[in-house]
Amino acid sequence: VDGAHLPALVIGTGYGGSVAALRLAEAGVAVQMVEMGMAWDTPGSDGKIFANTTKPDNRSFWLRTRTKQPLSNFLGFPIDKDIPKYTGILDAEGFAGITVYQGRGVGGGSLVNGGMAVTPKRENFAAILPSVDAGEMYGTYYPRANAGLGVATIDPNWFESAECYQYARVGRKHAQRSGFPFVFVPDVYDWDYMKQEAAGTVPKSALAGEILYGNNYGKKSLQKTHLARATATGKVAISPLHKVTSVAPAAGGGYTVRIDQFDTTGAVTATKEVTADRVFFAAGSVGTSKLLTRLKATGALSALNGEIGKGWGDNGNVMCGRANHLWDPTGSLQASIPTGGIDNWAAGGAFAEVAPLPTGIETYASFYLSITKNPHRAEFTYNPTSGGVDLNWQTAWKQSGIDAAKTIFDKINAKEGTIYRTDLFGTYKIWGDHLTYHPLGGAVLNKATDNYGRLYGYQGLYVIDGALIPGNTSVNPFVTITALAERNIAKIVATDL
Ligand code: FDA
Repeated sequence: VDGAHLPALVIGTGYGGSVAALRLAEAGVAVQMVEMGMAWDTPGSDGKIFANTTKPDNRSFWLRTRTKQPLSNFLGFPIDKDIPKYTGILDAEGFAGITVYQGRGVGGGSLVNGGMAVTPKRENFAAILPSVDAGEMYGTYYPRANAGLGVATIDPNWFESAECYQYARVGRKHAQRSGFPFVFVPDVYDWDYMKQEAAGTVPKSALAGEILYGNNYGKKSLQKTHLARATATGKVAISPLHKVTSVAPAAGGGYTVRIDQFDTTGAVTATKEVTADRVFFAAGSVGTSKLLTRLKATGALSALNGEIGKGWGDNGNVMCGRANHLWDPTGSLQASIPTGGIDNWAAGGAFAEVAPLPTGIETYASFYLSITKNPHRAEFTYNPTSGGVDLNWQTAWKQSGIDAAKTIFDKINAKEGTIYRTDLFGTYKIWGDHLTYHPLGGAVLNKATDNYGRLYGYQGLYVIDGALIPGNTSVNPFVTITALAERNIAKIVATDL
């Protein structure tokens, strides 16, 4: 409400924001959450809330007139198409050297992601978050995050026989024949529901290829977990289609927060101003970094320190496909939820998810999303000419990630006598090196903030999302983002309120 005075305002409703809202509410604090995306609680004309991956429509993309699918081509043909401009669910945000995919809506990235819920190996943790006590994380906060998110691993017996995981079994066979460990990857998808999908007794989601533009059934997004619990306390209000544009110290204490409300075409319909005693930046790595970089440069938060905008990484994301022999079909029915990965982190700096290619036809392709130890870090800077924020990531920096991924796939190709697919990311282009799904950093823990996310320079301002993590988690990031948020909010609730 315009003019309101709030004890706590949370910017964004992804993992960090949802954990903050839930724990603050449980401690008795009233919380206002502000989310630029839609609520995603109302079915469209087809009776479904979310669009299918194979049939993108207006619901699929954030304010674009043409789709920008991660796999831009198939069998040599471009597959992007025109769509009506709408506040859709997946943002393909373009910077000079990289496209950063992000979820938009109540639930943030949990709406669009694959639900792969991976806790890093403990021996890798010191490199991920050097200032954080590993004993506390592995003893308390990773277990708390996994329990809260509803993380589980596929029934291994079912995995062996399920038609929809033939692609994963082929991926395992090829990995193991080249001497690489294949590990099951836990997920927040309801595995019992998926069994029922396979049996044909419930409406299909993972087995209908739903993923990038939302899952209508089966996936435990934040809407079903932390956010449901947060709103059930009666102390949390969520305003969708509202975007925070400014935070600045208020004359009488606390912070003045400016918020634009807009309609589904993206047109601003109202501008509001509220005062908040505490503000939690949980707009995601890119959203939080852009806001803080601009607010520091334009003087609204000029006392923020010189670490703002720094330490951003792509979690080493690169994609590739391999062309299998005709005796190694990967199946026309592919569950959209990955179940396994190839772990060559210690030896080659790569952890490769065996990913689905749910086209509905036999493709003889194995498809992979690799997380690699790419050492490059980029910086956000304010651009006074455009009024926007730039990111200086260079496409050429992906070569480190490609080299790491090649430690796995060059070997598998040599062993199997197979080749890379060249038709998925353009014509004769092997590597999906133009994108990331895993933006991390920009307001790094213990650098831009203290060791619990309190922004230096301003009492009552906090960062509590992926912006805190300096660029890489060695595996998919949301469990670590959730666990770190649980750790930080526990400290904040205990000492700051
Ligand atoms: P997150 O991005 O979730 O939330 C930020 C929210 O803030 C968004 O809802 C955004 O709209 C909102 N916002 C931004 N600016 C705002 C403003 N100014 N005002 C108001 N609201 C604002 N990870 C993983 O571990 N396993 C996986 O399988 C996958 N798969 C995957 C697939 C795809 C396609 C994507 C795009 C991403 C993944 N990820 C993933 C990554 C994972 O989803 C991501 O790391 C987390 O969602 C990040 O959580 P945060 O809390 O940092 O922000």
